[in-house]
Amino acid sequence: MEPLVLANELVKMRPFEPADVVPVFELASAKEIAENTFVPHPYSREAAQEFVDRVREQWSADEAYVFAILDKATDAFAGAMGIHPEGTHNSATVGYWIGKPFWGRGLATAALRLLIRFGFEQLELNRIEAGHLDHNAASGRVMQKANMQCEGRRRQALLHREEYKDAVWYAIIREDYHRQKSVE
Ligand SMILES: CC(C)(COP(=O)(O)OP(=O)(O)OC[C@H]1O[C@@H](n2cnc3c(N)ncnc32)[C@H](O)[C@@H]1OP(=O)(O)O)[C@@H](O)C(=O)NCCC(=O)NCCS
Repeated sequence: MEPLVLANELVKMRPFEPADVVPVFELASAKEIAENTFVPHPYSREAAQEFVDRVREQWSADEAYVFAILDKATDAFAGAMGIHPEGTHNSATVGYWIGKPFWGRGLATAALRLLIRFGFEQLELNRIEAGHLDHNAASGRVMQKANMQCEGRRRQALLHREEYKDAVWYAIIREDYHRQKSVE
């Protein structure tokens, strides 16, 4: 897919660029990112470079669309959010992180709403899902605010930092999306 920009009042989302390595390294090194994701910890500049190279290749190959999230007010790099389509069932999985200095301002919710719209309207998906580690209630709240429905707990589904942990799973399906859109 050609590069594209998604935007609303809070965030701008665009494909990754080589210069994003520096802010990815700075923001994704935080322990609070590691506690809630599978981003390696400690994080290195090389790992940030590999991440940026990989997501750029995935975009070019139409394997996944991982966006850089910018704070609309300043254009500062604030985080990452990607959608990974799975062809057989016309569904996709979403993953994301926001750098700690940008937490609590609605950026993750704004980005997830845009990504869901992209998934249904441009990728023409039928289902979009996401999971969070049991303890990560803030991420569950983001999914709720983006109109995803909780589908339950997958017990010890994730091996996170050498410990089996429950995952809480959310999804939105195409008919939910269109129903919500018609009442907005
Ligand atoms: C989870 C995360 C993406 C949220 O990003 P954000 O931009 O701060 O999210 P938003 O501001 O859009 O919304 C956060 C919501 O969670 C709520 N929240 C924050 N901490 C919470 C907690 N400990 N328990 C419950 N809710 C919490 C906020 O109050 C807010 O909800 P509200 O608007 O109803 O008040 C961000 O903290 C993050 O990247 N964390 C580390 C990585 C991560 O968890 N990635 C997701 C993996 S599934």
